[in-house]
Amino acid sequence: MARKIVAKKSAIHGDGVFATEAIASGERVVRYKGKLRSHEDVDTLYGEQPEDGHTFLFTLNEDYVIDANVDGNVARFINHSCAPNCEAVVHQNKNGKRHKDKIQIEAIRDIAAGEELTYNYGIVLHEPHTARLKKLWLCRCGSPQCTGTLLQPKRSKKAQPPD
Ligand SMILES: C[S@@+](CC[C@H](N)C(=O)[O-])C[C@H]1O[C@@H](n2cnc3c(N)ncnc32)[C@H](O)[C@@H]1O
Ligand SMILES: [Zn+2]
Repeated sequence: MARKIVAKKSAIHGDGVFATEAIASGERVVRYKGKLRSHEDVDTLYGEQPEDGHTFLFTLNEDYVIDANVDGNVARFINHSCAPNCEAVVHQNKNGKRHKDKIQIEAIRDIAAGEELTYNYGIVLHEPHTARLKKLWLCRCGSPQCTGTLLQPKRSKKAQPPD
């Protein structure tokens, strides 16, 4: 499926990924690839680096993170949007082998050739959204629905469905 997309300069941020042909709603566009690391390894490797709001890390599940800094593919250049045309879907391994779970970027509506592909990164920080963090995670998706930030609201306890 990767033949239908190309990475190039984006008005949202740096490089983005664009459709070179029409993509139908529901189509699997590309798998998010990279080195599989434990959360502990990621903390050790990157925890000391100053936060700059740029990441190629994708949380796969409670055990693993996909680190697209190493062995990453074109999917790592897909930007975030508050009105995305794709979503990132975690496909769980049927035998519960968490290291075999996969992330697929899938179209959630028909996408025309030339459109930039985006998905909602769904970043939820558990710390307070300080002015510094809001500035780091400023959203430039440009959609009318833009919330101005890549950070998603923390889940309110009241909004949680009953167990
Ligand atoms: C996975 S990279 C996407 C590729 C990125 N454009 C690049 O050239 O490296 C994710 C980073 O891109 C930037 N980014 C993605 N979507 C953005 C948006 N809507 N507004 C501002 N920055 C964005 C942020 O720095 C984010 O951490
Ligand atoms: Zn936005």
